[in-house]
Amino acid sequence: MAAEAASPLPSNTFPTKITSIKTLAESPGLTSIPSTHTFTPDLHGQVTSVPEASIPVIDYSLLISGTPGQRSEIVHELGRACQDWGFFMVINHGVPQKLLSSILDGCKGFFDLAEEEKQEFKGNHVLDPIRSGTSFNVSVEKAFYWRDFLKVFVHPVFYSPTKPAGLSEISLEYSQRVREIARGLLTGISESLGLEGSYIDKALNLERGKQIFIANLYPTCPQPELAMGMPPHSDHGLLTLLIQNGIGGLQIQHKGKWVNVGTHPNSFLVNTGDHLEILSNGRYKSVLHRAMVNNKGTRISIAMAHGPSLDSVVSPAPELLVSSKGDEPAAYIGMKYKDYLELQQSNKLDGKSCLDRVRISAV
Ligand code: OGA
Ligand code: NI
Repeated sequence: MAAEAASPLPSNTFPTKITSIKTLAESPGLTSIPSTHTFTPDLHGQVTSVPEASIPVIDYSLLISGTPGQRSEIVHELGRACQDWGFFMVINHGVPQKLLSSILDGCKGFFDLAEEEKQEFKGNHVLDPIRSGTSFNVSVEKAFYWRDFLKVFVHPVFYSPTKPAGLSEISLEYSQRVREIARGLLTGISESLGLEGSYIDKALNLERGKQIFIANLYPTCPQPELAMGMPPHSDHGLLTLLIQNGIGGLQIQHKGKWVNVGTHPNSFLVNTGDHLEILSNGRYKSVLHRAMVNNKGTRISIAMAHGPSLDSVVSPAPELLVSSKGDEPAAYIGMKYKDYLELQQSNKLDGKSCLDRVRISAV
């Protein structure tokens, strides 16, 4: 505990005086982190050395313009990736490298704004279209994450902070490109479930689907072993597509162990969300993941979440509940996506606790 005593910032100064991790991390002479930001080391758990090479890789170009044989092979691989991992990398997606670096630079520009400027985009309610802040939900957390964020609704209505200059234009282009890929992947995923390609699109009204742009900043941390960027959680939507600057930190849970994902500059790192688990009646489980921090450099990631339209009531696809083997009971109750989103965002980020509320436990 000597480490904490040595901190130039007594723990009780957060968060009233310091509103971002960025400012905290940049305090002169910071060699330890305040107790408000420490987690017990066992939270870091056992990390396996599952070779990264075993993470499924999906060649998007084959899904879009491959021969029928290549396409059906990719659909099969998508299904396997969703079933076995809930996570895969997407390559040959066609989004120019320049757009990926521009959007990451734009987000860095946002985090570099003065604290007072960022305060303008703070937001008050979890369903406000633009919210920036620190940790996940400081009003309910006991310890804070080593993370600042900017969360923006970009579809069906596009929003963007007005600063820094140029971010809005790049974000619009990036959001549209990524959304296109997410819809293409969901077409393949529908097929992999034995449904029509357009099934998810139609059933969950993706024409008006909720797309949320989440930029995460994880500043260099003097005691990374005591801090947490984001705790283990699953995402609420259907699919999240993530990119990051040259620094890794994402870990996914696979067969009960944490796997380091590392850096993959030109790929999208894609994870399945709770609503894919609900729609597929548990065939495809949403994957637990978390973000670790490091002392080697500041990490920026952009997670783009794609969900149903806000007014969709999502329950298991009825087509999946009947088969030649007999009826399969629905394992989740229906809930309006808007209510689910509000619930998830208003609480602590805690594993799959939100999904537990719609799971029918008798099954
Ligand atoms: C998220 C998320 C992980 C990361 O924003 O939901 O899981 O590595 N981010 O930043
Ligand atoms: Ni996430």
